[in-house]
Formats: sequence, structure tokens, C-alpha cells
Amino acid sequence: MSTILVTTEIPAPGMDILRAAGDVEVRELDHEELFDACASGKYSVVVSQIRDRFDAELLAAASIVGVSNYAVGYDNIDIAAATAHGITVANTPGVLTDCTADIAMLLMLSTARRAVEADSFVRAGSFTGWKPELLLGSDVSGRVLGLAGFGRIARATARRALGFGMTVKFCPRPPGDRDVSEDELGEFAGRVEHASWDEIVTTSDFVSLHVPLSESTHHLVDAAALSAMKPSAILINTARGPVVDEAALVTALRNGVIAAAGLDVYEREPALEPGLAELPNTVLLPHVGSATVSVRSEMARLCATNAAAMFSGNPPPHPVNPQAWARS
Ligand code: GLV
Repeated sequence: MSTILVTTEIPAPGMDILRAAGDVEVRELDHEELFDACASGKYSVVVSQIRDRFDAELLAAASIVGVSNYAVGYDNIDIAAATAHGITVANTPGVLTDCTADIAMLLMLSTARRAVEADSFVRAGSFTGWKPELLLGSDVSGRVLGLAGFGRIARATARRALGFGMTVKFCPRPPGDRDVSEDELGEFAGRVEHASWDEIVTTSDFVSLHVPLSESTHHLVDAAALSAMKPSAILINTARGPVVDEAALVTALRNGVIAAAGLDVYEREPALEPGLAELPNTVLLPHVGSATVSVRSEMARLCATNAAAMFSGNPPPHPVNPQAWARS
């Protein structure tokens, strides 16, 4: 009898949905143990986390039919290899769009207005009264926000930024480009500006990253991109850590090449690039873009529903590689 493998317990109602579908085993595994578990024949579906790496070797040896990732991103899984081996991958799209855009906005506001520094200042007992030049920051309203990407989360960030009176530019597929029709622009037609990646980098006051991690976006923001930015620019990353060359970022922040950075994700998460945590011009969050009670619960529902469907021999409602189902 086959079993659903869950690498970390997911919030309610996820575990109930899974247990109603079949036998469930919760096991936190390192990469080697995950490899052996997937190859063992004991499990047909894995409910995974973004730290679980499903590389080509693991997928070639695996006897599973599906992976249900508890995330919208799936760069931890080699999708081409999964498809080649008839392994369907499913994710949790849509439900975390607004809360992640909120975190992008929070990082813009808190870096520009030095909220973390100001909070530490008060807690340290240093606040001795209002002063004309105490903790001056930079404006948000009236400034240019450059978006890398124009998917769901970028658009939700654009909506918020327009509400703050910002000018919004976007490059839909950096470092390259692609056409965007008026239809695709929808509510944003005439309100945001399609720009090249080069223009985003050189003209934005805030550059906010909303691209999936892929070969073409790995180190999209490298030393060259950082040095092309305005010295007053602020970099925001709520996407994936390796989109930014974190060593180059530390050097740039230290030397005033750009003004500040607000990060929710890291290149070698959970490790931080040496020097990053010591910089006062950073706001650093522990990958909490989707971390609200209701969103994590909704993600759990989608993730468990995907897994339960595959376990019962049906295609998942939110497949990443639907073509794999036909091959399984
Ligand atoms: C979180 O980073 C996700 O991809 O859902």
C-alpha cells in the first residue's frame, strides 16, 4: 500500500485533507534520505518544501508519481527532468500574491524611512526628543519604482505603488524583453510604463524583483547592474535569493554604490553573505512573503488538494507540468 510522504507538517486544513486521502508519513529528510525515500517504492506522492531539492538524479531514480510543493515557486525541482520521468509537479499559485506584494511594499517603506534603525534607536533609549535632522530618509511618493517581471506579484506591487503616488515602470522578462499587449496590461494601461531592463536599472529609485529563479535570472542583479543603478537606489528582493549576487550587493551597500536593500530571500538561504547583517542600510526578513495565518492555511489547502488528487490517480488542480501526467 502506497503512502504520502510529507517532509514538514503543513498547517490546517492540509494534514486533514491528506489523511482523508490515504496513509501519511511525516519525515524531515536530508537530500540523501529524500533520494532514498523517493526511490524506495513506498511513496507515490511527496508533499515538499522549497528546501527539498529534487534534482535530475533523484528524479531519475524516483518511483513517485507526483510532488506537491508547498510554495508557488518551484526552482527546487528540475521540472524538465520531472516531466521526462512522468512525475507531475504541483504548486500553490494565486493565494500568496497580495501578501507578498505587501512585503515588497513594507521593505520599500522600511528601507526608505529607516524603520528598523529608528526602532533600535528608540529601544536603545537614544530618543531624547524631536530633532529637525533625526533619522532622515528618502521619499517614496513621487519616486520611480522599477519592477523586474510583470506577473501576479509584480502587478499587485504596482497596484500598491500607484496608490502611494509612485511612477511605475516594468520589464516583463529581464534581462531580455517581450511584447505586452494592451489586453495583458488591463487595468495598468496608461498607468505604468514598459521599459528595458537597462532603463529599469539606470532610472529607478526602487528596483523590486519579481522574477522566477532560472538560468537567465540567476545573478540578474550583479556587480555591473548594481553599479549602473543610482547611488540613491534601493533594491528590494522578495523573489529568490540567487537572483542577486549577494557578495556584490554587500560590497555595493558598503561602498555607497546603492543606498539600501530590503531582502526577504537570500542566495544561500538561510545563510547570509558575511557582512550583510552588519550593514545599517538593510532590512532583512526571514522569507516571510506568504507568512500570514490565512495565506499559509490556503496554501496548505491547495497543496494538500494537489497531493490528494495525484494520490487518488487524478491530475492535480494546479500542475506546473501538466504534460507529465499523461506520461505517468
Ligand atoms: C515562497 O517563496 C513561495 O514560492 O511560495
